[in-house]
Amino acid sequence: MRNTEDRVLTGDRPTGKLHLGHFAGSIQNRLKIQNGELKFKNPIEQIFYMVADVQALTDNADNPEKVRSSVLEVALDNLACGMNPKKTTMFIQSQVPEIAELTIFFLNLVTVSRLKQNPTVKTEIKQKGFGENVPAGFLAYPVSQAADILTFKANLIPVGEDQKPVIEQANELGAKFNSMYGETFSYITPLLPPKNSPESRMPGIDGKAKMSKSLGNAIFLADSEKEIEQKVMQMYTDPSHIHLADPGEVKGNVVFTYLDVFDPKKKEVAELKKQYKKGGLGDVVLKKRLAAVLNEMLMPIRERREELARNPKHIMDILEAGTKEARHTAKATLAEVREHMKIDYFG
Ligand code: TRP
Repeated sequence: MRNTEDRVLTGDRPTGKLHLGHFAGSIQNRLKIQNGELKFKNPIEQIFYMVADVQALTDNADNPEKVRSSVLEVALDNLACGMNPKKTTMFIQSQVPEIAELTIFFLNLVTVSRLKQNPTVKTEIKQKGFGENVPAGFLAYPVSQAADILTFKANLIPVGEDQKPVIEQANELGAKFNSMYGETFSYITPLLPPKNSPESRMPGIDGKAKMSKSLGNAIFLADSEKEIEQKVMQMYTDPSHIHLADPGEVKGNVVFTYLDVFDPKKKEVAELKKQYKKGGLGDVVLKKRLAAVLNEMLMPIRERREELARNPKHIMDILEAGTKEARHTAKATLAEVREHMKIDYFG
């Protein structure tokens, strides 16, 4: 048990490039922690960032090429946003077999009916149209995610709001393990964007509740200036705001949701909302403003990304070194786990 220092762990599924939903939901938080901008009770001992390729395969088993190429993409996205491999240990999930081993042990501590109740997994099963034909690995990904975290004895987990039930399940597994085999794991705290803040659930450009690559409603961090302008121009606003003079609705209006999150000039945004509600303010003016705000924010990220992408070997070297370091911690935890489970036969 270790309670005097905190360990942070986060991860992304490599199923494509990352988008503004990832950025607002977890990337910004993980970078604030890396850069010492968030204060915690205990000092931070280590920060891990995992490319969750094993988890990506739970619903992409038939598409290993996509997962493989996305490993580089998500690492690039994070590095371009400011992840510093000297401060954050970046590694690839599949290359730490201890995580898979702990997953197997955890699977004995959860029932199939509990797995089927996880609200996040339930929603995803619906979204992906699996029905009863859900792969067992997908149904059990929260178990593997618990192992991702507990293999490193991480206790602070910056994630988006949708991951809360997954972290809850990880805590159940940790507690069950402790009660069955003796104290091994400590309590995990998810670090979420402020409750009910627009950051916690970025809508897609079509106004649907969640931005997602598979729904085709995402703005990617790597999008060009033109692509961003085009996507913003298509954005869902208020469908009954037809004539310039009509009063418009701000609530549920994606352009305003994004301005709330990304426009640094909050007073001006408040003024624009007032005008829009009164009538006389057109969507195009607002969309031009938003496109400019997004492009100003994303331009340095895009440029850094392009520069880093010229040397993929360098990125793989970062991941290889990080994986080596991560395995060191993973081995120590699994030795303890085997001992507590009485399967440490050969010492
Ligand atoms: N499930 C997370 C997501 O989709 C990714 C992830 C995998 C993760 N393992 C993790 C996040 C461990 C935090 C900790 O965003």
